[in-house]
Amino acid sequence: MNKFLVIGNPIDHSLSPKLHNYWFKKYKLTNFIYEKKKITERDIKYIINEIKKGSLSGLNVTVPFKKSVIPFCDKLDKTAEDLQSVNTISKKEGKVIGWNTDSLGFQECLGHFRKDNKGKSVFVLGAGGVTASILDALWGYNPKKVYISNRTKKKAEDLKNQFKEKFQKLELLDWGDKPPGKCDIVVNTTSIGLRSGEKINLDFSDYKSFGDKILFIDLIYNHKTNFLKDAEKRGNSILDGKTMFLGQAKYSFNIWTNILPTIDEDTIKLISND
Ligand code: ATR
Repeated sequence: MNKFLVIGNPIDHSLSPKLHNYWFKKYKLTNFIYEKKKITERDIKYIINEIKKGSLSGLNVTVPFKKSVIPFCDKLDKTAEDLQSVNTISKKEGKVIGWNTDSLGFQECLGHFRKDNKGKSVFVLGAGGVTASILDALWGYNPKKVYISNRTKKKAEDLKNQFKEKFQKLELLDWGDKPPGKCDIVVNTTSIGLRSGEKINLDFSDYKSFGDKILFIDLIYNHKTNFLKDAEKRGNSILDGKTMFLGQAKYSFNIWTNILPTIDEDTIKLISND
């Protein structure tokens, strides 16, 4: 049996088991199974050891462990190394390898919305484990300017330092500051909204006049967050995290099975029913 897990905290909301088990079935990988597990920091060592022993075949890693799994990996792929963020773990030739498929997933997400995302101004909320992947994906579209705002400013500063070569394009804002004049894309990478009832308290009323030209993206995918509901009310375009979720999952699946699954209507329907 090839057993896979998604680890995180919280984890109840995760649709990864549903999606990967669907693909295992679709591609006739009958002895493959995928489950979710809520863990604490202390469990990481034990779980990675299960990969080493072969009782687990692979992992997805989600909030808040994308950084903390790194010291337990024998090797990282280039993107994971550059971004210091791991969302996928596999074993190859006895070595535990940490991968990052979030960046590719987000690129797919933007590409899905419109073909030309080049030269845009972007406002990124948050500076957590996944945010570096979002910035990495954004560089592929050569943005005009990227604003970052995070509650803990030090983390936003660290992120800026991580992308030194893009220094001129990055500007940090204080958490709670009025949103920048006009951005074409606003991305929520924080976990605010993961639990229903939570809300980002920023005044985007000026964005009303820009209508559907502005795209609001929330990486949260299990429900429509207040952040997206408000954007929709203002007439802005919205995209929830499902497209990115499917994108990153597709490349994780490929790492484990060598199969690049197709994302068709049925796949989208599968994860939209929740
Ligand atoms: P991970 O690194 O795995 O993404 P994380 O570090 O907990 O997990 O990241 C969560 C993000 O949501 C961070 O940007 C966090 O802000 P801080 O860096 O200040 O912790 C943000 N976040 C979570 N809850 C928040 C809240 N109530 N208010 C503001 N930001 C919040």
